[in-house]
Amino acid sequence: MPPFAPAPIEFPANFLWGAATAAYQVEGSPLADGAGISSWHRFVRTPGRVRDGDTGDIACDHYRRWPEDLQLMRQLGLTSYRFSISWSRILPEGRGRVNPAGLAHYERKVDALLAAGIAPNITLYHWDLPAALDDRGGWLNPDIVEWFGDYAEVLFKALGDRVPMWATLNEPWVITDGGYLHGTLAPGHRSAFEAAIAARRLMGAHGRAVQAFRALVPARPDRPERKIGLVVNIEPKYPASSSVADHAAAARADAYMNRQFLDPALRGQTPPELPEVFGEAWEDWTAEELALARQPLDFVGINYYTRAVVRDDPAVWLQRAAPVRQVQATHTETAWEVYPPGLTDTLLWFKQQYGDLPLYVTENGSAFYDPPTVDGPWLEDPLRVDYLRRHLRALHAARAGGVNLHGYYAWSLLDNLEWAHGYSKRFGLIHVDYATQKRTPKVTAALYAQVIASQGRCLNDTVDPPSAGLLPVSR
Ligand code: BGC
Repeated sequence: MPPFAPAPIEFPANFLWGAATAAYQVEGSPLADGAGISSWHRFVRTPGRVRDGDTGDIACDHYRRWPEDLQLMRQLGLTSYRFSISWSRILPEGRGRVNPAGLAHYERKVDALLAAGIAPNITLYHWDLPAALDDRGGWLNPDIVEWFGDYAEVLFKALGDRVPMWATLNEPWVITDGGYLHGTLAPGHRSAFEAAIAARRLMGAHGRAVQAFRALVPARPDRPERKIGLVVNIEPKYPASSSVADHAAAARADAYMNRQFLDPALRGQTPPELPEVFGEAWEDWTAEELALARQPLDFVGINYYTRAVVRDDPAVWLQRAAPVRQVQATHTETAWEVYPPGLTDTLLWFKQQYGDLPLYVTENGSAFYDPPTVDGPWLEDPLRVDYLRRHLRALHAARAGGVNLHGYYAWSLLDNLEWAHGYSKRFGLIHVDYATQKRTPKVTAALYAQVIASQGRCLNDTVDPPSAGLLPVSR
């Protein structure tokens, strides 16, 4: 636990409270209004890739029902909404021709959020690559740095004036590890060589987009600051024992997952452990690649779900860096250990490693079993309530420990397509009945609304506060 006394919980009035979603997971209507095919549209149609053959064809129908979902956000008292843009709605072929109807969709959403006092926080890329670009090698093709930069420019020109927060990529590690190393996510490749190459392209694309942002959305005295950052997933790695071998294994796991992208972005270098981790698949980044990846950022977004306890195991790829998860009763439906102190440790780790760049927790949440349909106005979800409450306390502990933290986004606003798990895992604050599209708030949503309304003070209560009926009507 942190080496400082716990303080009474109270978050500052301007702390951002949000919820997050991603385009392919919630929108549905993937080909509507002239959109092109994405890599995920294809991947879900590849037999055996996604549980039960689930697709994002309908998902939460957020593409059409977002005004209704915006009302739910208002009821929760959210002050920000993090969502991603589907590249192939904007550029159906991935580059070249812009689809005005796709752009107009997001413009309407941004304007409505702003009118409701909810700050839009846009992620340019949350894993749905235009299929036309995947055909050209996707994240393996060096040209993708320019393709992504051109896509970003279209959005900055259209929305840069209005949108206060932007992120280039969501979780580049997951893109490389799931998409190019283990094949569990689109495009489903399995190559350590490709994973190493994709990492370099991703960070080039990130850097190119930040450069475009600085050129197209310059600071202006007549409007509040517009910010751009990078969103990474961090999983603190604890050695399983005090042995030198386990410590070295934890350092390799940390380099592979946590520092592989932050070190280039913030230090202009790659972690020293990576040549050993990747073995013959490793190739040094060029000086140009490192320089492009390192652009001044306004913030870093951290997604935190769980920790890993790591022991040295010569049998496991990656070069003995694989985590071993502790088996306890306290695991979520995705088999992730519930470990709130890991959130505090993660944020303190960032401060210690990279300094005081402003941070946001851009995702945190849990999948637990919820019934597929609900009778009544509320859904009782005590395990998720417990997860949220303990993680928000851990969040406050990090602030009390001096972390420069400015906001928190729950994952997720709605139950949604959990990638290769299909609809079998529910992370939402709000339950979705996929047959009827009915939305039902969970008790977790009531707790979150109370936290927001009280600036976190209700987290000081030792008794369980939330119960049905606590959701404020609207602001
Ligand atoms: C991703 C989300 C995903 C969540 C839960 C994060 O890695 O950004 O898209 O649904 O974790 O698995």
